[in-house]
Amino acid sequence: MIKVKPYPNFYANLVVDGDKSTTIRALLLSAVAKGETKITNALFSKDTLNAINCVKQLGAKVFVDKKNKIITVNACEKIANNKRFYCGNSGTLARLLIGLLAGAGVNATVCGDASLSKRPMSRVVSPLEMRGAKINSKSGCLPIKIYPSTLTELNYVMQVDSAQVKSALLLSGLTSGAKTVVTERNLTRDHTEKMLEYLGADITVLGKQITLNKSSLIAKNIQIFSDPSSSAYYLTIGLLKGEVTVENLLASPLRTAFISKLKNHGAKFEIFNRFESCGEQVFSVTAYKSEIEYFEINQTEVPALIDELPLLAVIACFNNGAKIQGVSELRVKESDRLKGTVNLVKAIGGMAFVSDDILFIEKVKNINAFDFESDDHRMILCAHVAMLLGRGGNINGENSIQISFPTYFKNLEKNAFALIGENVKSSLSGIIHKHILSEMNFKNFCYVCVSLPCESLSEFFNKCAYKAINVTIPYKNEMQNYIKNQTKLTKKANTVNFIYKNKGYSFDGAGLVSCIRASGIPLKNKKVLLYGTGGAGRSIALEFLKAGATVYLQNRTKQNLQSFLNSINSKKLLPYLGESCDIVINATCEKQNPLFSDEQIKNAKLVIDINYAKQLRLADDCERLNVEFKNGLEMLFYQAYYADCKIAGEKFDKNKAQVCFKRFKEKYENLCS
Ligand code: S3P
Repeated sequence: MIKVKPYPNFYANLVVDGDKSTTIRALLLSAVAKGETKITNALFSKDTLNAINCVKQLGAKVFVDKKNKIITVNACEKIANNKRFYCGNSGTLARLLIGLLAGAGVNATVCGDASLSKRPMSRVVSPLEMRGAKINSKSGCLPIKIYPSTLTELNYVMQVDSAQVKSALLLSGLTSGAKTVVTERNLTRDHTEKMLEYLGADITVLGKQITLNKSSLIAKNIQIFSDPSSSAYYLTIGLLKGEVTVENLLASPLRTAFISKLKNHGAKFEIFNRFESCGEQVFSVTAYKSEIEYFEINQTEVPALIDELPLLAVIACFNNGAKIQGVSELRVKESDRLKGTVNLVKAIGGMAFVSDDILFIEKVKNINAFDFESDDHRMILCAHVAMLLGRGGNINGENSIQISFPTYFKNLEKNAFALIGENVKSSLSGIIHKHILSEMNFKNFCYVCVSLPCESLSEFFNKCAYKAINVTIPYKNEMQNYIKNQTKLTKKANTVNFIYKNKGYSFDGAGLVSCIRASGIPLKNKKVLLYGTGGAGRSIALEFLKAGATVYLQNRTKQNLQSFLNSINSKKLLPYLGESCDIVINATCEKQNPLFSDEQIKNAKLVIDINYAKQLRLADDCERLNVEFKNGLEMLFYQAYYADCKIAGEKFDKNKAQVCFKRFKEKYENLCS
């Protein structure tokens, strides 16, 4: 059982395991393609481990390098006779194997786990029997026995929209050598056709008709890309809670309809880095927080969305509802997913019902925390996402993710970073850190901004699951009680704004110094008027001293000012007594009341407010007096850059940081102006 806490927001760049469909196909085809095949970035999950075992049973030699995700297969000389093939939970493996074995003219038994043994196999057995296969199955289910036979040509019009059935028939044609023509009603995923072509088969596809002539395959290395169905869970969190990037997705249009469909209904997806490999399209994608309109899915669209339908129902429930036609196939998946989806939507607090093969989902009114139990991997993944998006809950059956997406939970925990503070839900830190870490090529992380009530700080540290923490008001000073190991400057400034590997840092000052240097102003011998001796102010004062400036301090409470001056005791850190200063800085939270006179502003070359709200009094004053002004965004960015250098193990490089900020501003123009 796992307890799930909802995400307040979520900014992530996550790595998704290899695609299940293509890993299974690559294994089966490499068993019959003459020579040696290296399958790279293969999925290692329960389904594919069963596929590896079956390929060994076929007679192929398989070497598994799990660490590097490479499987090397030396094809069978001849498909082995009298073997038993255990397919576990995998319908794809069972159905494709049945076709392959029926064409190979061997005795074989195909079996699976309890769930798979309930799923319909007559959809492959019947057309195979039409071409002369001898198959014995108990009421159309596993286990089934296959007997040697000689297959004839087949010209078959599909009775169900199933890539598994289509693939089984093509594989029976491949191993028997008998011509196979299959015509689809609606297009289903075409990885088998693509891979056969890639490996040299004589195959043609004309619209919905596929023709495979007698062929022999020659081994070629196969690269597997991230599973688009698995990616959809993470992308959904991005769509509803912030921003999520997944790179190098297998991007066949018959697998990424989830993206194109939602895009047509208001979802903001950015597709980048498109290329082709092993006959398949690949791309990377970012999902941005969006409002999804009410949408409808018709029967012809269902095959390309089949594995994502439960998730689409969850998305519809959190947004504006949906109507999905032709949903009966969901009843015969790893579980009755139609029933599971209706239950899930209801558990969330929404409304779902089925009428005449149509699933209706209504927008949720009151979101519930809920408990959910299933042994179906996709239902567990959907329920988990729903809990993260909603009010949390408890999950039973989480181990089933081993079937298709073993790293799902690990990825979310491995590099989980957070900003903690008061009212930080809409802070820009999430977007900034995601941008910087992604540019540093740091992968597989997520970032959340958590608003904590003051009294729960010690509770937070007791069960802190975050690997790095940024700290903002009002906790910067209090961190002294929790983090003993600190940099010298942090100790002196008596404030922490970043914690990593149990060490406290204060990067506010360094961030502002970088920001001023980026505008070409040297700090040496400059006079600076700094208003505010809070955590950020103290960090700024110390960094400015280091950079050779003289800092004149002002503060609302004189006592705090004096005790800071006493603790530092430097000739260049002085109380402000009306000096004319080159740089004027507001380091308080004050956004509206005037802190500086027109005279003080007019004398300055640069004025900075460390706040980055859209409406700042100081910005207006500077505009009126025609003095250069910067808000706190750039400082926030550079202090984040310092922190992310620690995380990514990089040295701070001011040129790289400046380029990174420039790109950030271009990309998020609307947030920055
Ligand atoms: C698959 C095809 C789909 C899909 C399954 C994998 C495949 O099943 O639901 O997860 O790899 O061919 P159907 O072809 O039975 O719809």
